[in-house]
Formats: sequence, structure tokens, C-alpha cells
Amino acid sequence: MPEIKINFDEILDRNLLSSEELELLNRAEEILETAYAPYSKFNVGATLLLEDGSYVSGNNQENASFPCGICAERVALFTTKANNPNIKIRKIAVTTKSLEFTKEDPIAPCGMCRQVLLEYEEQQKEPIQVFLFNEKKILKFHKAKDLLPLYFSENRLKRK
Ligand code: THU
Repeated sequence: MPEIKINFDEILDRNLLSSEELELLNRAEEILETAYAPYSKFNVGATLLLEDGSYVSGNNQENASFPCGICAERVALFTTKANNPNIKIRKIAVTTKSLEFTKEDPIAPCGMCRQVLLEYEEQQKEPIQVFLFNEKKILKFHKAKDLLPLYFSENRLKRK
């Protein structure tokens, strides 16, 4: 039977990260504090490191009309691509904090955010490393594609 294998690193010590990566994680932890999440009470922060060394952060934004809300990852991604459409994204870090939930494992992005991340990765033809983390551990994926096998891509469709 065919099998899909996902590779990632589990990092238990932040000192093993580069100074840029540490900064990336710190910024994601910082931005989640200002998330607008009065309904879920589940704050999420996401920060991107861009090819020019700059960082762009986002957090989740909710609404009384629930479907209007948007995840932290897409806030950061769309802000980046709206302002700087051709810049390459090197890394993304995502984390969460909630008074109402405890989580052993780091948060994993929703399917929509993975799809969005993947399309930008395909477009830039260079991998986007993904860091999912909490106080205890960091899961590092070497490319966004690892998070969404068999993803939907227009590039896979061929006109008859
Ligand atoms: N959320 C994110 O911002 N990112 C994720 O990866 C998963 C979920 C948000 C959406 C909503 O505001 C809250 O977390 C609870 O689902």
C-alpha cells in the first residue's frame, strides 16, 4: 500500500536555534498577546521571516459573526503579500496561548492556512520552513509542503 511519510525535527532546546529563529519565535509569542479572540479565547501568533531579514507578524482576528474571523497565519501571510508581492518568505513560526486550554503539543495550522502557505511556497520556488511551537517544544518542518501532502494546486491540473 502506498504510504505518505512526513519528516520533521523535534527541538526541545531553544538554544539550538539561530538568533534569527529565536527572534522569530519571540515575535510570534509577543503578537499573540494582542489577538482579538474574545469568542474562542484562544490567542494565536504567527511571524514570518522574509528574504530581506525583516519580520511580519499576525494574530487571529475574530468576529461576533464567527465565519468572518481569520487565523493568525493568514493575517501575517496576506499582510506580507499585499505589501510586498514578490518578496520570498523564508520561515514562519506559529504559537498559541489560552487560559482555557492546555496543550501538550504545539498548535498545528488549519487546512486553509496550510493551503495558502503552500501556494506561496510553490510560487516562490523555494521552501518555507515552518516552526510550530510552545514552551516545551518546537516542531520544525523543512517546507510547507510537508504539512499538506496531496494538496490542491492549479499546477497539477492540465487542460484537456
Ligand atoms: N486559529 C489560528 O489563528 N491559527 C490556527 O492555526 C488555528 C486556529 C484561530 C482561529 C480562531 O480565532 C481560534 O484560533 C480558534 O479556532
